Amino acid sequence: MSFQPPKGTDDILAPESQAWRETLRLWEDVSERYGYPLIVLPIFESTELFERGVGETTEVVTKQMYTFSDRGDRSMTLRPEGTAGVVRAYLNSGQQGVWKGAYSGPFFRYERPQAGRRRQFWQVGVEYLGTASSLADIEVIELGYRFISSTGLGDVALLLNSIGDSRCRPQYVEALRNYLRGIQSELSPESVELIDRNPLRVLDSKTDGPKLMEAPRTLDHLCDPCVEHFAEVKRGLEGLRIPYKEDASLVRGLDYYTRTAFEYVATGLDTAQNAVGGGGRYDGLAEAIGGRATPGVGFALGIDRIMLALGDPQRPYLDAYLVSETGPEDALPAVSRLREDGVRVDFDTEGRSVKAQFRTAGRLEVPVVLVWRGRGQLVSAQTEDERVELPLEEVSTWLNKR
Ligand code: HAM
Repeated sequence: MSFQPPKGTDDILAPESQAWRETLRLWEDVSERYGYPLIVLPIFESTELFERGVGETTEVVTKQMYTFSDRGDRSMTLRPEGTAGVVRAYLNSGQQGVWKGAYSGPFFRYERPQAGRRRQFWQVGVEYLGTASSLADIEVIELGYRFISSTGLGDVALLLNSIGDSRCRPQYVEALRNYLRGIQSELSPESVELIDRNPLRVLDSKTDGPKLMEAPRTLDHLCDPCVEHFAEVKRGLEGLRIPYKEDASLVRGLDYYTRTAFEYVATGLDTAQNAVGGGGRYDGLAEAIGGRATPGVGFALGIDRIMLALGDPQRPYLDAYLVSETGPEDALPAVSRLREDGVRVDFDTEGRSVKAQFRTAGRLEVPVVLVWRGRGQLVSAQTEDERVELPLEEVSTWLNKR
């Protein structure tokens, strides 16, 4: 067959997919432990939601959206990120006060594909709405940090910055604009065009960002409440022993952020896509999409990138393969019993030879082969270096003890 997956998308199959499954399961556990219920939202939304929420001058909106007209001539966009949709859902739900949600699913950006930069990618994330408390920032940052650590990914740095709010940002933006005008001749035409419209985006530019080491820093222009909020977040993280690095050059690629901005960076990955996750506070987003003022904070992590950084961990998705000497019908009740006991086990339904069944077990790289000799007989459990005979009902306990 000549069809390939579309450019920048992947077919994720076993055995690679097992690490995904375990990581996503871990995500469900950790997010649940922090009190974030699952939310399941549309994969496409009206285009205007992202234009207004994410920001019309961001690269995500100007270059990367999968936008189409539906049959009713409405402009729709495959979600490039989750936060705008979550805030929309919260506002639509009519709920008031503090509210939390955790999500997991595919997102879409028309990017130049490379390792860790895909056109369809998987994010997990949380949003904590209705609270301006620095404790919410701390909780969210901690959750992301603990989750990443629990995946086994070492060498992750947490970068932290504050980018001010509607009170102090305008003065900062003006200072930045003046600075950029002064070095205009060194900047790309794209950046020059942004100086008037949204100079913060120039800091985020792939070509010009690195030239701006001397540019004014948000941290030097924060108002007192923003300074206090940032100090509280840092103190809280220190209290929880979460190491962070203050990074005054950290600006995020989406327009909705206020105050806290952070990124988790896998130091082992190529710098172009070493951010395994990022987030921050977005106290103005709800109003930007036409809702009542609602503060919020959250993050999203890129599962594709986490997998890349973990480096192709191959984990078996089966505990055992059952080889039947008496045919598949006879083996079925035994397999069923093992599965009821919690054993991840598979067997051959085609009635193939014992030799062929052993070959399958070998191909699947199962740690244990169980040989079924018929009802009333002991099961022979075989590993590379041992062989034991057991009654069927003891197999699961034996496997658990290994
Ligand atoms: P973001 O930084 O655009 O933030 O994306 C979060 C993470 O998604 C990135 O750090 C990266 O790991 C992953 N990611 C993004 N684009 C791609 C891609 N093309 N291929 C592979 N992975 C990718 C957001 O999306 C915000 N909504 C996060 C947030 C939640 N802020 C507040 N709440």
